[in-house]
Amino acid sequence: MATKTATKSAPKKKAAAKTPTDPTFETVKIERDKGITFLIMNRPEKRNAMSPQLHMDMNDAIDYLAIDPATEVLVITGAGKAFSAGQDIKLYFRGTANDPALRQKARSASNAWRWQKLSRFPKPTIAMINGFCFGGAFTQVCACDFAIAANTATFGLSEVNWGILPGGIVSWNVGQVMNYRNAIYYATTGEPFDGKRAMEIGMVNKAVPAGKLKAEVVKLARLMQQKSPAAVRYTKEAVRSVRFMNEPEAADYLNAKSDALKHNDKEDGREEGMRQFLDEKSYRPGLGHFKRKKK
Ligand code: ACO
Repeated sequence: MATKTATKSAPKKKAAAKTPTDPTFETVKIERDKGITFLIMNRPEKRNAMSPQLHMDMNDAIDYLAIDPATEVLVITGAGKAFSAGQDIKLYFRGTANDPALRQKARSASNAWRWQKLSRFPKPTIAMINGFCFGGAFTQVCACDFAIAANTATFGLSEVNWGILPGGIVSWNVGQVMNYRNAIYYATTGEPFDGKRAMEIGMVNKAVPAGKLKAEVVKLARLMQQKSPAAVRYTKEAVRSVRFMNEPEAADYLNAKSDALKHNDKEDGREEGMRQFLDEKSYRPGLGHFKRKKK
């Protein structure tokens, strides 16, 4: 009878993180840098004005990236000298005026990606405002968890300058990130303001020289990559949701949310964090993150 010899299998090579072959889009492009995905509005000759096609492309791209394991942090930005000049006045407004079906499709895609999908994106999101940012483009800036602008970027609630109001949900967005006085001031005057002013009024977290913008965004993204993905996801969901609750609702929601995080965190960060601080004494939670096992 043949005896089985225990053959030692060759040690498995750690699978290299695969760079996926991304789908291509007419008006949007995807670039990658070790877990950071740059989703770029790509109509530089039109200052990335948002056409119906761009809305549909962004919608599809965000759905694709939300479940893409290689995307750990998502950065939204624009090609060329603009972040986005807002809704495409020609293609989004005039071009759909006599085409209710296209209008409906464009509006629904526009609302979905700029707010519903982006503000609920399961991983950290950063708006990188490299240049012009007008009107409807405020919504995707407000939807992102973080916003970093070039000092020289130009922001403007320019709707009033051509006889409309900041619609979609722009008026609601600016009422939340800015104080009421500034929201009314900029919405009614249409006065443009730069990145530095955007930081002063709470529209962005930081404004930096244009040449340092990408490096600053990457630095923040790398910091977020060190954190437990589950803790970050549940935290941003919690902070977003409790804004519209009263105290008893918030307390109840946060208890349930904490339990859900404990249950669903595959890395069991809570236990590991306690172990590294209390038993191993290898880190100080007040000063930094614990060493994640998977990374
Ligand atoms: N809609 C449609 N086309 C636009 C838009 C826009 N929002 N913004 C720029 N473009 C087009 C221009 O018509 C021009 O097209 P063309 O080359 O075929 O003539 C091209 O992009 C380049 O624009 P310029 O004005 O030549 O570029 P410049 O760098 O001088 O100015 C700026 C850029 C300041 C952004 C200017 O184009 C502008 O004021 N755009 C409108 C901004 C705005 O008010 N947006 C809010 C829209 S309303 C809303 O979002 C709800």
